[in-house]
Amino acid sequence: DVSDDFIAGLPKAELHLHIEGSLEPELMFALAARNRVEIPFASVEEVRAAYAFSNLQDFLDIYYQGANVLLTVQDFHDLAAAYFDRAAADGVVHAEIMFDPQTHTDRGIAFGTVIDGLSSAIHEAQARHGMTVKLILCFLRHLDEDAAFATLEAATPYLDRITAVGLDSSELGHPPEKFARVFAEARRLGLKLVAHAGEEGPPDYVRQALDILHIDRLDHGNRSLEDPVLTARLAREGMTLTVCPLSNLKLCVVDDMRDHPIDRMLREGLRATINSDDPAYFGGYIGANYRTAVDARGLTRADCATLARNSFLGSFLPDEAVAAHL
Ligand code: HPA
Ligand code: ZN
Repeated sequence: DVSDDFIAGLPKAELHLHIEGSLEPELMFALAARNRVEIPFASVEEVRAAYAFSNLQDFLDIYYQGANVLLTVQDFHDLAAAYFDRAAADGVVHAEIMFDPQTHTDRGIAFGTVIDGLSSAIHEAQARHGMTVKLILCFLRHLDEDAAFATLEAATPYLDRITAVGLDSSELGHPPEKFARVFAEARRLGLKLVAHAGEEGPPDYVRQALDILHIDRLDHGNRSLEDPVLTARLAREGMTLTVCPLSNLKLCVVDDMRDHPIDRMLREGLRATINSDDPAYFGGYIGANYRTAVDARGLTRADCATLARNSFLGSFLPDEAVAAHL
């Protein structure tokens, strides 16, 4: 009895969304043509057919390739504006979106180009949808700590527009401890801290994110459940987990949606939320992620309300704004 209208009508915050992962094939083609960039696909259908992944790295290879069509302020604006329109239709009233500056600066795109395009779309979303938006700068963990420091340095003129730093890309072999110093520096600068951990990496990576990076929020976190002591600790500390069901299925973190642990997370007392991660690549936006979790795991309306409530509690909004959303 959880209808699509109920899901869309539930005010919610999206806390785990890579803006580069919201690049729909149609926009990829339009930007390739506008910018005269070659892409290795003949049609939108061919692009969609290429979106069959067996793990995180498979996806990342194609995701970084897709981002090559993004060159100008207008491109980043159009990318983000399309996401905000879709998110608003799904009942998102607040979004904390991640971007990967190194994916662009390593191609010669200025940091300012990226953030100016995102900023103008954010202002438009505030005006058009009444949506509030915060930006999370993610470091690519397959690159070294010096590169992360250089990125934080490039962000210095824009720190008033950035709420948090995060850690994404290839998890295995790139443990959180690799970024201990740059996260400490970000914290010193007053930024909030998030990190992907326990998506493919072991529970020890989650422990490192907590004890070495001192994260304020955990992205994914699925593999925490393998460790009862860690699970109990996350529950006790009220740590928010930004869970992404369709991503978990497409990247084979779960083999079948019927095995997804979202309801187990709630039962274990974890502050779990539902998010879309890379919706253009994984088959749907936040509403579709709620839908699949409801259908596969029998979530009730009350569960959905808890997940949506958790999204505000886990957000970086000030306490008064959180209270106003509850
Ligand atoms: N994991 C790691 N890096 C990413 C992801 C993800 O799910 N999406 C985009 N970059
Ligand atoms: Zn992610």
